[in-house]
Amino acid sequence: MTKDWITIEQIKESAQAILTQCPLKPQIGIVLGSGLGEIAKAVEDATTIPFKDIPHWPVSTVPGHQGQLVIGRLENLPVMVMQGRIHYYEGYSIAQVAYPVRVMQVLGVKSLIITNAAGAVNPEFQPGDLMLITDHLNLMGMAGLTPLRGPNLDEFGPRFPDMSQAYDRQYAHLARLVAAELNIFLHEGTYAGLAGPSFETPADLRFLRTIGADAVGMSTVPEVTVARHGGLRVLGISGISNKANLDGNTITTHEEVLEAGKLIAPKMAKLIGGFLQRLAS
Ligand code: HPA
Repeated sequence: MTKDWITIEQIKESAQAILTQCPLKPQIGIVLGSGLGEIAKAVEDATTIPFKDIPHWPVSTVPGHQGQLVIGRLENLPVMVMQGRIHYYEGYSIAQVAYPVRVMQVLGVKSLIITNAAGAVNPEFQPGDLMLITDHLNLMGMAGLTPLRGPNLDEFGPRFPDMSQAYDRQYAHLARLVAAELNIFLHEGTYAGLAGPSFETPADLRFLRTIGADAVGMSTVPEVTVARHGGLRVLGISGISNKANLDGNTITTHEEVLEAGKLIAPKMAKLIGGFLQRLAS
């Protein structure tokens, strides 16, 4: 794989390698963030493929990210679940970070459910809460890091894709209904995507709050950019893993993020399950 951008041939080779191991055509892609990998256990008739066995596929190196694909059925819908994802700070190019979404598109995926662990920026949010992502701040993109850099892949979408409704409004509506039905409290807000891996300074967080962020993390935005370029409909959910450290008196650790994942994962699994049930009906 070239370091900076991706070719259609590479994407097709990855897709072919997956099809060789599992002929099921997934309709829905699911990306599980830090500490949320357990959710893949509910997949029925599962075929598990380690990322390292798929040509050109970047391999995740972060504790809490298993690094494998689970393909099968959830609520009777054919799904392709990423148990763990790749982050820019691991050393991959930003295009490689979003590469799995390209492969999903070639395999016929039409919808993406993307989750992450995020820090609260909104002071109302508590660790363990869920947030429906209604929009994002593409801070990496504003700094020049976009997975769409390089020759446009016309097979997927236009050179200048619209991002006015990055997170599908009907899906958001459905998620709200399901959350209410299942008694899951769901915040809503804007996710700010940063490169990491250092957590934010109090000044960073005050800045993020001022520009309208409710949660902050180190993922999601590149994948959603590529998803929208290729016309996928996106549902995004953040699991809030730690408090906003606006005053500088709280230390944030990855262990804390993983610990909160244990609280968040069962709720996230119920919400995704309910959402898929509604989608299927
Ligand atoms: N900041 C950035 N990314 C994160 C955080 C955070 O506080 N928590 C989990 N991912």
